[in-house]
Amino acid sequence: MNEETQAYLKSAQKQQVNELIEWLRIPSISTIPAHKPDLLDAANWLIKNMESSGLENVELIETDGHPLVYADWLHAGPDKPTVLVYGHYDVQPVDPLELWETPPFEPTVRGDDLFARGASDDKGQTFIHVKAVEAFMQTEGALPVNIKFLVEGEEESGGAEIAKYVPKNKEKLAADVCLISDTGIMSPTQPIITYSLRGMWAGEITVMGPTSDLHSGMFGGAIHNANQALAELLAALHDTDGRVMVPGFYDNVTEMTADERAVLAKVPYGDKELLAISGAPAAYGEPEYSVVERIGARPTLEINGMWGGYITEGFKTVIPSQAHAKVSCRLVPDQEPARIGKLIDDYLQELAPETITVKVESRGAGAPAFLAPMDLPAIQAAARAYGKVFGTEPVFKREGGGIPIVGDIQRELNMPVVLMGFGLPDDNLHAPNEKFHLPNFWRGIETAMVFMEEIVG
Ligand code: BES
Ligand code: MN
Ligand code: MN
Repeated sequence: MNEETQAYLKSAQKQQVNELIEWLRIPSISTIPAHKPDLLDAANWLIKNMESSGLENVELIETDGHPLVYADWLHAGPDKPTVLVYGHYDVQPVDPLELWETPPFEPTVRGDDLFARGASDDKGQTFIHVKAVEAFMQTEGALPVNIKFLVEGEEESGGAEIAKYVPKNKEKLAADVCLISDTGIMSPTQPIITYSLRGMWAGEITVMGPTSDLHSGMFGGAIHNANQALAELLAALHDTDGRVMVPGFYDNVTEMTADERAVLAKVPYGDKELLAISGAPAAYGEPEYSVVERIGARPTLEINGMWGGYITEGFKTVIPSQAHAKVSCRLVPDQEPARIGKLIDDYLQELAPETITVKVESRGAGAPAFLAPMDLPAIQAAARAYGKVFGTEPVFKREGGGIPIVGDIQRELNMPVVLMGFGLPDDNLHAPNEKFHLPNFWRGIETAMVFMEEIVG
């Protein structure tokens, strides 16, 4: 990168942050129906900014859910690679609101950090690529590669609409590589290449006992309590080491090779870091795997919420008629989401005593896991870009979170996917006081630019 470009980037920093702040003010929470107009506003804001940044064919794509945004710049020439940038403009809900030091949609800079919902996940990281395009246009008047953008507004709610759109628009989205910034790095000086994401199956379990709540004096001892029955079923899902007890659950799980385990052993993250960042008293889970492996390469079954009976103020001697749990699994290659849902259902039906009935309902179609070979040329280009900008070679890591559309991009569009993220482990994703470390934002813009140069070769 030449001096003129360096100087431009330095001089543009403040303006780039001010623009991002405007976008972050729009409360584009995709999982809450009342925010629907805000998603449209956030999409339209992005469109305006993409246009003024030099992108072309900028388009709002209506869907049955929240709109997609498409844009491109295709003048590098047919001999140059085409990069497809994916991102998401929707954000997570903000509760508990009282724990935010400054309101989630009043973006605030404190020290080196910009605090707001979506600052890191994923408006801030998506914006990196728009500003990288702008920087090239402002300094060179052109990009080294052809570029396309596809930005969705439903990632945090499962990505159903983009999953319909992608297979129907293979031609339009055709590219040599998909580049995504929606993951993290280890520290401001230690980049990470994420080469795997976990998939997901989610559902709800309902235990049904008597047809209505009952007086626990008149019926207690002779009727199975639905809350208790649910607890008994949920307790049978894991052994004491945290292994999932659902028969067949691990059938298709691909084991890591010794080489891969050696790569993951280099990630500077262990029990100490895990406990410091989570505040938990001790680590949990399969003892034969490191915490990095447990989080990235092993599947889980989590109980996300449970309710039933009387839970508000006061006291009520009741036998509940129904009890509920929301559950979800993080999946690894090659577990199939639908099959996992069926295995859980079968197991619970098998376990359920005759005193209750149990129902398992899937929520959405789920998403398979994503895994890329570490030696892909596009991934190596990203590694070089990180190395040049951060001054440190990246480590390679598997991430436990997921981005539902990634597997489809890889399979349906038949292109390598590079996860080049800039978040930090303490960015408070999905939690109060989400933030983006501004030096990562600016370095992200530079890394995105160097990636484009590196991919040209
Ligand atoms: N950006 C995250 C995925 C992620 C999380 C990457 C942590 C790296 C570290 C993404 O926005 C996300 O939150 N995904 C959801 C998907 C779900 C709601 C379908 C997830 O993983 O829970
Ligand atoms: Mn995200
Ligand atoms: Mn997220």
